[in-house]
Amino acid sequence: MLSTFSTTLSDTKMLSSVLALVAILPAFVAAQGAVWSQCGGQGWTGATTCVAGATCTVSSQYYSQCLPNSSGGTTTTVVTTTTGPTTTASAPTGSQTPAAGNPFTGHNIYLTPFYAAEVAAAAANITDATTKAKALSVANIPTFTWFDTVAKVPSLGTYLAAASAQGKSSGTPSLVQIIVYDLPDRDCAASASNGEFSIANNGQANYFNYIDQLVAQIKQFPDVRVVAIIEPDSLANLVTNLSVAKCANAQTTYLACVTYAIQQLNTLGNVYSYLDAGHAGWLGWPANLSPAAQLFASLYKNAGSPSFVRGLATNVANYNALSAASPDPITQGNSNYDEIHYIDALGPALTSAGFPAHFIVDQGRSGVQNIRQAWGDWCNVKGAGFGIRPTTNTGFTAIDAIVWAKPGGECDGTSNSSAARFDFHCALADADQPAPEAGTWFQEFFTTLVTKANPPL
Ligand code: BGC
Repeated sequence: MLSTFSTTLSDTKMLSSVLALVAILPAFVAAQGAVWSQCGGQGWTGATTCVAGATCTVSSQYYSQCLPNSSGGTTTTVVTTTTGPTTTASAPTGSQTPAAGNPFTGHNIYLTPFYAAEVAAAAANITDATTKAKALSVANIPTFTWFDTVAKVPSLGTYLAAASAQGKSSGTPSLVQIIVYDLPDRDCAASASNGEFSIANNGQANYFNYIDQLVAQIKQFPDVRVVAIIEPDSLANLVTNLSVAKCANAQTTYLACVTYAIQQLNTLGNVYSYLDAGHAGWLGWPANLSPAAQLFASLYKNAGSPSFVRGLATNVANYNALSAASPDPITQGNSNYDEIHYIDALGPALTSAGFPAHFIVDQGRSGVQNIRQAWGDWCNVKGAGFGIRPTTNTGFTAIDAIVWAKPGGECDGTSNSSAARFDFHCALADADQPAPEAGTWFQEFFTTLVTKANPPL
């Protein structure tokens, strides 16, 4: 996840990071896995059982994790069904013309029970009473739910049903926030979030089927509004990382898949999409702004200018400030040193290229600044704190909402250098370690997000 167009790490530094990692490896091979530790997955040779009070739970083919038993119903067990919903989909009754203005207004954002359960399980393992109370309060802050495998898609139907019921009983309709994230050859310039589909093995058809399944779920609940972030990193990689063979090879497929996603979601009448646009330290470099605007606009026009594409999402799963008090020294050389400068610079280029210049900005883990050694460091940044709370009161007309896109506490990538999805960024000196697989729970990282939250929890 979240590669950038350049890395500044010297080979020497990388070697020392790798050696440092090797030094901590024995922690991974304990007789019985501690709570939150790895206990299985592709290539795993360590303990496959957990200490009392925890159960080894399959998270993905790459990773099983010792999750606490007292997790209040939390389970990350993979759902193996890949078939579509069994209920008959009813035609959407919602208008096919987008509502005017900001799609977040007039709705209550649905709190995903999956994240609430992760947070409850984490809080149960925090002993300090003040920190525990703060941790528990995070369950009431809306995040996006990532549909990073096709197996997770049926759970969307469950969330939408609950959101629909809440909307009916409260009289204010619900809004469910999702991230569409299952491209074939995913995360083409990094390794940590490589996905389940490959282009060489029917990836495009598998992806179309994944989108069809999402659409079939959403179709059943036309009274619930959905805001979707489309494919973090994908188009940004096509702007700056075509020198990476995997990205060059993926270019046509990414474009076809993203086009299919926004066209199909657009037929529903209740899904507002924001394409992922990297962040200030990626597409925000002055030389990248115009190529980025051109790519977003051409994809959008080729897709038939879908009216429910509302704009772009920035800083997803990254750590940049919305508006930095002063530029972090690592941003030197880029006048667009925070998200608001990036958005202000990109907006006019989008408008003149014919793309809607509305934005949402992830601030979930941006509470503490000046903690990275290089701007390209994106993995489990040490000392990060929860950031500005989700709000539509953004202070900037171009920004529809501040959001928490990355559920804080879910990992960016493993620091285990022998893992199939190891990415060196996750073993850098400014990356919190030892870190489990991307998307799984990282308890120590979560408690730091809680204690360093800014504004405080
Ligand atoms: C991971 C996904 C996960 C998401 C949210 C990504 O980096 O690859 O598996 O769902 O983060 O935590």
